[in-house]
Amino acid sequence: MIPRASLHAAADRFGTPLYVYDAAEMDAALARVRGAFGDARAFYAMKANPNLTLLSRLRVAGVGFECVSAGEIARAEHVGAWGDDLIVNGPAKSREEYAAGGRLGATFVVDREEEVGLLPPGSRALVRVNPALEVSTHDHLATGAAGSKFGVTLAQATGVLRALREGGHHALGLHVHIGSAIRDAGDFGAAFARLADLRAHTGEVEVLDVGGGWGLDADLPGIARAARAAADVFGARLWVEPGRYLVARAGTLLTRVVGTKRTGRNFLLVDAGMTELLRPMLYGAEHPVTALWNGERAEVWDVAGPACESGDLLARDVTLPAPTPGDLLAVGDAGAYGAAMSGTYLTRSRPAEALWEGGEWRPIRRRERPEDVWAAEVGAAKF
Ligand code: LLP
Repeated sequence: MIPRASLHAAADRFGTPLYVYDAAEMDAALARVRGAFGDARAFYAMKANPNLTLLSRLRVAGVGFECVSAGEIARAEHVGAWGDDLIVNGPAKSREEYAAGGRLGATFVVDREEEVGLLPPGSRALVRVNPALEVSTHDHLATGAAGSKFGVTLAQATGVLRALREGGHHALGLHVHIGSAIRDAGDFGAAFARLADLRAHTGEVEVLDVGGGWGLDADLPGIARAARAAADVFGARLWVEPGRYLVARAGTLLTRVVGTKRTGRNFLLVDAGMTELLRPMLYGAEHPVTALWNGERAEVWDVAGPACESGDLLARDVTLPAPTPGDLLAVGDAGAYGAAMSGTYLTRSRPAEALWEGGEWRPIRRRERPEDVWAAEVGAAKF
C-alpha cells in the first residue's frame, strides 16, 4: 500500500492526471501466480501495461512476454527478451510481425489454418483453439465463444498441428485463451477440459498454453489445478499468459477535483476521464474510487471527466465527503488496461506514470506535451 501522504506528494511533484504503481504489489501478484502455478512458464501479456520499466522488472524476475503487435515485439526486444521468452500472437499478424518474431526466434500462436504458410521457416508454433463456450464476462472481453474471431475450431486443431509439422515447423502444442476479467472460475475448467478431449486425436504435445483472463479475485489455485490436469492429459508443460492479474491492483489513477455541478444529478468534475481511463465507458467497468481528503457530509456523486462526451464518466453513484477544487481522488485497480488504453483524443496529452519502490517515487513516463501528440503530422504550413 502506498501511504496516503506519498500519493499527495506524487500528485504535487508529477501533476495530475497521474498513474502510480506500487512495485511491492506487482511483486506480490507475481508471487501469487508462481505460488499457484508452480513451475509453469509465465508470459506477461504486455497489452495490459507495456511501460518499459514495468517490463524490465518482470524480465529480471524471469517472466517472458506475449506480444500482439510490431510495437509490442519492439518493446520486448528493447528490454532484451527474445527466443524462448517471446510469444507472438494475434488474429491478423502483419508481414512485419512474422519477420520480427522470426528474427527473434519467438514462438508463434497460430490463429487460423492459412497462417501455417505464412510463418518464417522452421518456426516454433502453438495452435490456438476456440473451445466454443459461453464465457462469464462482458461481450467485448469474451474470446472463447463460438462466434468469436479467435482461434481454430476444435475440429480443425489436429489438422493444423499436422500441417505445421508437414510444413517443417516445430508444432509445440495447443493454446487457449477464453477471455478477460472472467467472473466464473468454472469457465476455465470447462474450456481446458474441451481441449483435453482433443488428446485422442493429437496424441501427446510438448506445451499447453492456457492464456490469461483471470479476474482480480480469481481462485488461482483452482484455475491452476484445472490447467495442470489438462496439461497432464497431453504430457505437456504448462504455459500461462497473465496480463491484468500481474499489474491491475498495483496501479492507481490520481485525478484532481476541478469543481462540482448540480443539475438533477451531482457531478464531481475531475481532470481525468475517458482519455485516461476508458474502461468504465467502454465496458461499464467499475473501479473503486477513494477520496484522499477528509470531510463531513457524505453525498452521492457521478465522477465526470473533461471530455465533451456524455459517456465520459469514471464512476457513478459513489459516496464521497464534500469536495473542494484541488482535492485528490484515487481510482483503484487501474494498473491494467488503464495507461495502456489512454489516448490523445481532444489532443489531450497522455498522463505521466510513476513507480513507488523502496519508499521512493521514480518517474517512469513523463507527461506528454501537445507537440508530442502532433509530432507525426507533416505538411502543415507554419504561421
Ligand atoms: N493472452 C491472450 C491471447 C490475450 O488476448 C489476452 C488479453 C491475455 C493473454 C491477457 O488477458 P488478461 O489476463 O489481462 O485478462 N482491454 C480489456 C482487456 C482485453 C484483453 C485482451 N486480451 C480490458 O480493459 O478489460
